[in-house]
Formats: sequence, C-alpha cells, structure tokens
Amino acid sequence: MGGDMIRVETFVGRDAVKLASDFDRLSAECLSGWPFFVKKTKGKGSRDFFLSISDTLHAVVIRDGDLIVGGTYGHVAGWNVGVSSHQLAKIIDPLKVYWIALTAILPEYQGQGISHKIYNARDPWIAKSRNYEAIAHVLVKHPDDHPHRPKSHAPLEKMWNSRGYYHIKELDYEAATIDAFDEPGKPTNKTMQIWMKDLRK
Ligand SMILES: CC(C)(COP(=O)(O)OP(=O)(O)OC[C@H]1O[C@@H](n2cnc3c(N)ncnc32)[C@H](O)[C@@H]1OP(=O)(O)O)[C@@H](O)C(=O)NCCC(=O)NCCS
Repeated sequence: MGGDMIRVETFVGRDAVKLASDFDRLSAECLSGWPFFVKKTKGKGSRDFFLSISDTLHAVVIRDGDLIVGGTYGHVAGWNVGVSSHQLAKIIDPLKVYWIALTAILPEYQGQGISHKIYNARDPWIAKSRNYEAIAHVLVKHPDDHPHRPKSHAPLEKMWNSRGYYHIKELDYEAATIDAFDEPGKPTNKTMQIWMKDLRK
C-alpha cells in the first residue's frame, strides 16, 4: 500500500466530470464516520447538502496503481452552501470563491501523509486560476460532547489551520441535513461552519 505506486492526477472541466462515480464511491467509503456520519448509500443524494459533481470545475485524484484511493473536487462560485451572497460579500467577493465539495482518502490509506499531495496539487492551481481570492469548505460542527464522537479522533481543525484555512465565525449557519443518526426523511438542524483560505494574503 502506498509508496512508489501512488500517483497524483489533476482534471479540469469535462474530464473532472467523468470522475463522478469515483467520487461517489470515495464519499460513501470515507464520510461515514465522525463528523459526517453520511449513510453508506452510493449514488446521488447520499449527501443531501452537496451538489452533484456535474458542475465540477476541478478535481485531483490519488491512485495506487489503477485504483483511486483519494481525491478532492470542487465547484466554482454559485454552489449553494447555505450562506447568502450578501453575507459572504462582507468577507469576500462571492464570485471569487472556490468551494471544495470533498477531500477524502480511503481509510486504509489515511495517516500516511497523502493529504499533503492533494493540498499541494489543488491549492496552488486554484490560487493561479481565474483570479480566485479564496478556497473554502463547509464543516458540520457537532457539539464536542456528541455521543458518537470517537475518543481517539484527531481534530481536523489543527490540520486545516496549518494549511492556511481558518474558521470564519461570522459565517456560521444552521442547516437541516440528514446523517446516519437521523430518521429517514427527517432532517435535523446542524451547525455549519465555513473554513476559508484567503489567497489575497
Ligand atoms: C482528513 C483526511 C483527508 C486527511 O488525510 P490523510 O492523508 O489521512 O492525512 P495525513 O496523513 O496527510 O495527515 C494530515 C495531518 O493529520 C495528522 N494525522 C494524521 N493521522 C493522525 C492521527 N491518527 N492522529 C493524529 N494526527 C494525525 C498528521 O500528522 C498530519 O499533520 P500535518 O498536516 O502537520 O502533516 C483523511 O483522513 C480523510 O479522508 N478522512 C475522512 C474524510 C474527511 O474527514 N475529509 C475532510 C473533510 S472533507
């Protein structure tokens, strides 16, 4: 596992769209745990607050041999993240934000530094492209005393800070979403945070 067979590939536009089913699989395999608790339902609709990949602009995949073991994809501005453009505009030009939809690595490949390959391929590309001023993603922020929070969980926040992403507190919002602990068809309100890397700095 890992080692010399690990390759990084970057895709843009239509070529990225072709990866939709690979990202569906990654999402189903990687986001079932804390803090996402996404039901392992493959296919569209498995993550009710993410848009489909059909309008993807850019994707990075990590392959071990032929197998895609990790990756990231994201959208241009316009993705409905739950924050109004009016609110966002107080911080940054909404048209100049690249929204990360997913960053995920298969569990058996985690903890080997592979995420660095993703960040190193994605973030500089975005910084150079189309005058983006920020890269952002949304985090479902469960309370620290959530009954299903694993005791061994290493907070992702520290990792994001070390890569230039910061929580923009004034953009926190509530959204009704369904996770593995909600009754089918009955979304519950969750606190959502926006984490952003300001490329103007
Ligand atoms: C979060 C995720 C992308 C990180 O990828 P990864 O390749 O496993 O992470 P890395 O091995 O590169 O380690 C990332 C950092 O966490 C630290 N880390 C990794 N495993 C750790 C562990 N078990 N305990 C403590 N820290 C750990 C590393 O030291 C590293 O720190 P650094 O940035 O200073 O180098 C991956 O674990 C994942 O896909 N998780 C499930 C989905 C998810 O949470 N996605 C993120 C939001 S979309």
